[in-house]
Amino acid sequence: METFYRPTWVEVSLDALRSNIRAFQRALPAGMHIMAVVKADAYGHGAEHVVREAMACGVDYFGVACMDEGLKLRRSGVKAPILVLGYTPPEGIPLAIKHDLTLTVFQDELWQALDAMGSGRDERYGWPGPAESVTAVDIMNVGERAEAFESANAMKDAAVEIAYTIESANGFKSVNSGQSLHAIHAAESANAVRHLQEMASTEGPRKLKVHIKIDTGMGRLGLQPDDEAIAFVEKALAHPWLDVEGIFTHFACADEADKTYTYEQHRKFDRIVEHFRKRGVEFRYVHTGNSAAGIDCPELSYNMVRLGISLYGLYPSEEVNRERVVLEPVMSVKTKMVHIKTLPPGSGISYGIAYRTQGEETIATLPIGYADGYSRLLSGHVQALVRGRRVPVVGRICMDQCMVNVTGIDKPAGDEEVVLLGRQQDEAITAEELASIMGTIHYEIPCMVSHRVPRVYIRDGKRVAVTNPLLR
Ligand SMILES: Cc1ncc(COP(=O)(O)O)c(C=O)c1O
Repeated sequence: METFYRPTWVEVSLDALRSNIRAFQRALPAGMHIMAVVKADAYGHGAEHVVREAMACGVDYFGVACMDEGLKLRRSGVKAPILVLGYTPPEGIPLAIKHDLTLTVFQDELWQALDAMGSGRDERYGWPGPAESVTAVDIMNVGERAEAFESANAMKDAAVEIAYTIESANGFKSVNSGQSLHAIHAAESANAVRHLQEMASTEGPRKLKVHIKIDTGMGRLGLQPDDEAIAFVEKALAHPWLDVEGIFTHFACADEADKTYTYEQHRKFDRIVEHFRKRGVEFRYVHTGNSAAGIDCPELSYNMVRLGISLYGLYPSEEVNRERVVLEPVMSVKTKMVHIKTLPPGSGISYGIAYRTQGEETIATLPIGYADGYSRLLSGHVQALVRGRRVPVVGRICMDQCMVNVTGIDKPAGDEEVVLLGRQQDEAITAEELASIMGTIHYEIPCMVSHRVPRVYIRDGKRVAVTNPLLR
């Protein structure tokens, strides 16, 4: 098990996570798939552990925001299907195929990328043929030398050579410089193409798995209904290198009590699904709903819901029906008092002396600050829990530390837990409370806790795993 030395940590309750998944499995219509949305490192909870727990509960699809997040999961050994919900540039296609990542597609650049990859197709290898078009962009970015190379192998060598040249010019001081990374990425992309070629020669060509995104009113990503969307889907269905596994949209206001806009979005989406159903096309996955829809109107989400915030035990808003799915918060943030002293009246606390002791007060220092995600915006407004009692955080929150006023707590001790987010005895500090102080939404709170804070995974009251990226 990894360890940590500063007594500040996040606790992730795998029991709560499991209980939230089970609550949805009970509440959702039979046969509906759950996609666990594990982007942003599972909303700060640690994607790798969340995925493993969710898989053990029968969750069979995972959603990430970008391809890099998907690749990270693959590198940690996750084999389950992963959909990249956001935009992936065309250069990512070979890697997506190699690592079996499903891409969200909605732009015509897809056809250009596929055409370019297929042009000059080599019958010995099958799809995708020579790699120039895939990796040339990367190579040109580093040294405008793409034209000089004709095969993926040469491109790989070139990329490595460029990286080496850059590094030796730097005296090997910046091993991770952006340019070198770009070259290395190009090498990897070229490698992926070669791998695909080798695979194609033995197993036949592999297709790119895609889910097509329709913009029914979020105005973010996706094809416009009806004509643009239908034409794109038709083309994708007919394309020999695409496996159109799914079609989806995203609701903008499903967390509001008034579902008028959500129904309108659903109607637009359903017209397209119906169009293809009439032609005998059944997509394997059709999905619209996030947590809010999963709670309030799962019937609008066809055969899959994409659950993010609620898996982590937070309701998407005040307006959803909390009785339908009972959730338990998964994350707590804990620390300890590393320095406790009694100060005379009028003593200044922290930068700018925004606080002075009113009388004789006991002030304790906590080893957590805004670089850990405990925002400076909370200064002067937030409370912590000690022995199940609320105590005020006083003075400005520093980068790595802050102070609490524990006057009135009988002999506070350095080894007792202080809770900054979560429950202690009968009291709780919620993500909603912290968010409202900061003028933001509670989604941001778990995502804000930085990688400097180790994650401790708890099952049946016991630590079962610890991750601390700092000591890896
Ligand atoms: C496309 C998409 N689907 C699903 C989700 C999950 O949403 P929620 O966390 O509200 O469940 C998100 C999150 O923003 C998303 O962007």
